[in-house]
Amino acid sequence: MENVNIPVHVAVIMDGNGRWAKKRLMPRSFGHNAGMNAMIAMARKAKAMGVKYLTVYALSTENLARPKEELDGLFNLIRKYFTKNVKDLYAEGAAVRVIGDMSALPQDVQQLIADGVKNSPAEAQFFVILALNYGARSEITRAVNAAISRGERVTEQTFSSYLDTKEFPDPDLIIRTGGELRLSNFLLWQAAYSELYFTDVLFPDFDEKQFEKAVKSYSGRNRRFGKV
Ligand code: FPP
Repeated sequence: MENVNIPVHVAVIMDGNGRWAKKRLMPRSFGHNAGMNAMIAMARKAKAMGVKYLTVYALSTENLARPKEELDGLFNLIRKYFTKNVKDLYAEGAAVRVIGDMSALPQDVQQLIADGVKNSPAEAQFFVILALNYGARSEITRAVNAAISRGERVTEQTFSSYLDTKEFPDPDLIIRTGGELRLSNFLLWQAAYSELYFTDVLFPDFDEKQFEKAVKSYSGRNRRFGKV
């Protein structure tokens, strides 16, 4: 794509895996498997287009209340991602990061995640940021308590440094697949000036063409950040 203004940071709410599976009379875990493949393809496409940060909402704090069978499937996908798929990422010079409260995840998953972050290339040009047991209100509450325990009054700038996303710029573009028109507790502080893109496409069907379409929509917009 020529003459396209590429967002530095894209964040994606990957919704619709369950409905995609249901349409095929398959269990929800089948949809999550397909979703993970779509996520990996999307990361490759984002990197190829020149995006620098891709944040994906892989597990919300609310998702932790799902039935054990579905959660076990999601934890197994995380295990697979951090034992197998990250190696391809590293080989391509990309790094993995996480946001969210890891402490509620199974011990072995926490260890795999810590290793995955630690073993990432130091000089990465592209970051996949997995939101795991992530909820913006939980993140903000944790940040407030961290500031209080240091006895610090915060400003808009210093507050950002207490958030899980402190290493990353705010998202330029937030995409939500699956037809719902809401943010569902995702990056509420960071989304202040993000451009939003909603599509009915279910996440497993959100392919490279769809990602390109979302970026094209973004690049045609006039961002004023409240100014004239
Ligand atoms: C929402 O769809 C999606 C999720 C709860 C999980 C998203 C996870 C992936 C796409 C891949 C997982 C990758 C890793 C590394 C864990 P939904 O199930 O709520 O769909 P529905 O709204 O159709 O029911």
